[in-house]
Amino acid sequence: MSLELKNLQISIDNKIIIDDLSLTVKPGEVHVIMGPNGSGKSTLANAVFGHPKYTIGVGKVIVDKNDVTKKSPDKKAQAGLFLSMQYAPEIPGVTVAHFIRVATAAMTHENKNPFEFHEELKKMMKQLGMDTSFATRYLNTGFSGGEKKRTEILQLLMLKPTYAILDETDSGLDVDALRIVGAGINAFHSSKTGLILITHYNRLLEYVVPDFVHIMVKGKIIKSSGKELAKEIEKEGYKKFL
Ligand SMILES: Nc1ncnc2c1ncn2[C@@H]1O[C@H](COP(=O)(O)OP(=O)(O)O)[C@@H](O)[C@H]1O
Ligand SMILES: [Mg+2]
Repeated sequence: MSLELKNLQISIDNKIIIDDLSLTVKPGEVHVIMGPNGSGKSTLANAVFGHPKYTIGVGKVIVDKNDVTKKSPDKKAQAGLFLSMQYAPEIPGVTVAHFIRVATAAMTHENKNPFEFHEELKKMMKQLGMDTSFATRYLNTGFSGGEKKRTEILQLLMLKPTYAILDETDSGLDVDALRIVGAGINAFHSSKTGLILITHYNRLLEYVVPDFVHIMVKGKIIKSSGKELAKEIEKEGYKKFL
């Protein structure tokens, strides 16, 4: 069992952004991808999830032996993959509760009892320090940066995927929000779930301890090591890797 990114070549408008990138994430593992702006971290996340702007020309995305490379985002979700986006879209007209309910039903093929669903939603919202009135707001519409990030973690906790890729879930959060988001990620993480955290900073890693840290520069993973690599980057920056 694992999420395998195999020899991926990813392009946008025929321009190759990522070439020959491979990464394997096993349940129980936390991987962190760090790298300077523009190195292709969001491109990787978006392409893996099937954003139409990004083309996977070569390589495979395999979720627990299931080749989902060419599958639609909802099929990928059914296979157990979750993605948070660095820039979450606003969906006016669709409430947070409705969005999560439909997404959960699509993923699990089971229609949970609405009462149980709302009870669980409320419980998770409390855990994330969210006012329950948020459930009836339109998804991301008028949300602050921190509110969007908490909503992502709420989706993660409700959808319970096997593998999640979180793109800069920590950006723009104040210390309290960061702690809560960190706790939310830890609540999701278990020996049965694998995580890829994409981040600029070490801050989130005070809460979520990684097993592997990868440095991505110009569309390639140029170094992989343990959590001490994140500390090294914090101290010395990326200069010596460029
Ligand atoms: N939608 C897009 N259209 C054109 N170029 C893009 C698009 N998204 C990303 N790029 C380019 O791909 C490269 C990698 O960007 P990105 O994946 O956002 O980097 P990161 O997330 O590491 O900061 C950059 O050169 C960026 O300009
Ligand atoms: Mg990015």
